[in-house]
Amino acid sequence: MFTSKMQRSFTGVGLLALTLFMAACGSDDPKPKTNSLYVRMGAKAGIEGVADQMVANVGAEIGTGSSSVMKRSHQALVDAMTSVNGAPAPDPMRETRLRNNVVDQFTDITGGPITYQGKSMLVAHTNMQVTEAEYAAWRGLLDDALAKKNIGAKEKAEFTTLIDAMKAEVVNH
Ligand code: HEM
Repeated sequence: MFTSKMQRSFTGVGLLALTLFMAACGSDDPKPKTNSLYVRMGAKAGIEGVADQMVANVGAEIGTGSSSVMKRSHQALVDAMTSVNGAPAPDPMRETRLRNNVVDQFTDITGGPITYQGKSMLVAHTNMQVTEAEYAAWRGLLDDALAKKNIGAKEKAEFTTLIDAMKAEVVNH
């Protein structure tokens, strides 16, 4: 049976061991977080800026009417947020959820402090039948968002390489 003094000293030893263990793990990290693409893109504010600009770009493109390339694939999203005959929109937060998932995913793939927990790209885009032309248009809007948010050329190249690595899961499913 421990006295309360003994318990305190065991707790102290435990905390010291944990601190030493964590310090050792940190010093072995081969990629310091300060160098991550996430940090170089402006961390939370930078990633959120790109995601928000992308959502705005897609919305503006859909607003161009019959010439819109994004309209077909995004019609369900638009319908979910549209009120018809005064009835409440079926799912007014759907765009916000998409935006937050995109922020989480962009944060995750660039080495930031969030683990993306949304759908896999294959699941999210299955039955959408995204065409090559639609992908190219979407990528053009992403390039524009990266330029508007002043992402550097090196970071843009790294980021779009990560994005294009997911293309096969998005197109033609
Ligand atoms: C590699 C490129 C792409 C990435 C990384 C990406 C990323 C994402 C993410 C993270 C989601 C949210 C998944 C979830 O809700 O759990 C999503 C959904 C969606 N994406 Fe993509 N996407 C890509 C390409 C495209 C393209 C090319 C289109 C259409 C032209 C598109 C249209 C959509 C739509 C319509 C949704 C569902 C929105 C909803 O109904 O809630 N995506 N995407």
